Amino acid sequence: MREFELDARLALCADFVREGRVLADVGTDHGYLPIRLLLDQRIPSAFAADIRPGPLSAAKENARRFGVAEKITFCLCDGLTGIPQNAACDVTIAGMGGEMILKILHDSPWACGEGMRLILQPMTMVPKLRRGLCELGMAITAEKAVMAANRVYTVICAEKAKEPVVCTPLWEQMGALSPEYEETRLYAERITAGLLARSNGCLHEGKTEEAQQLKNLADEIIRRYAAV
Ligand SMILES: C[S@@+](CC[C@H](N)C(=O)[O-])C[C@H]1O[C@@H](n2cnc3c(N)ncnc32)[C@H](O)[C@@H]1O
Repeated sequence: MREFELDARLALCADFVREGRVLADVGTDHGYLPIRLLLDQRIPSAFAADIRPGPLSAAKENARRFGVAEKITFCLCDGLTGIPQNAACDVTIAGMGGEMILKILHDSPWACGEGMRLILQPMTMVPKLRRGLCELGMAITAEKAVMAANRVYTVICAEKAKEPVVCTPLWEQMGALSPEYEETRLYAERITAGLLARSNGCLHEGKTEEAQQLKNLADEIIRRYAAV
């Protein structure tokens, strides 16, 4: 039987999962994330959820192939709705849009409870997700950018905040990413390109104040995260 490695994006998600905790992997698709963590004996068991039967069957088949199927409960459901409340304490949601991730969290508030850890890898709408986490009372306790398949992604780790979280425009864009990593610089470059494009668009529409605000934010991100 051939072994497999997670790609850098899912490997980073796996790194944030706490040792010995039961995992719920939402949108599991192929099931590789819980399978890898079980093979490495990092977690005792997992729930693997997907809204579509095809991916869930693939996850079951992969888990059986790698001999860990009996340690995974497979759930055909929307988000966390088919997983008993508090049955898992680490939740991974990778490869989905930020708005969908927020909807999943709103639909199952226990996921944002005391002692829970969320590991989120959004594909889109990342600033909206960071703001939404603040509004749900979740603090980003760690965040790291990663390159995979020629694209830079961010992985967010969030837990119940001990004090109110302030979500500034800079926080919305860059969260808890640290300037010490090359991947953060690449992420910052992508973000600033988007902000400058929006700023130019505003200029063309005569919205000069908004254009300046977006430009100022882009300049601040370059100064803090992308300056050589
Ligand atoms: C792009 S794949 C990501 C697979 C894997 N998590 C990864 O990052 O490689 C997204 C998966 O999420 C599933 N999905 C989409 N919306 C969902 C929802 N509301 N609840 C559960 N699964 C969902 C899709 O069926 C698909 O299998």
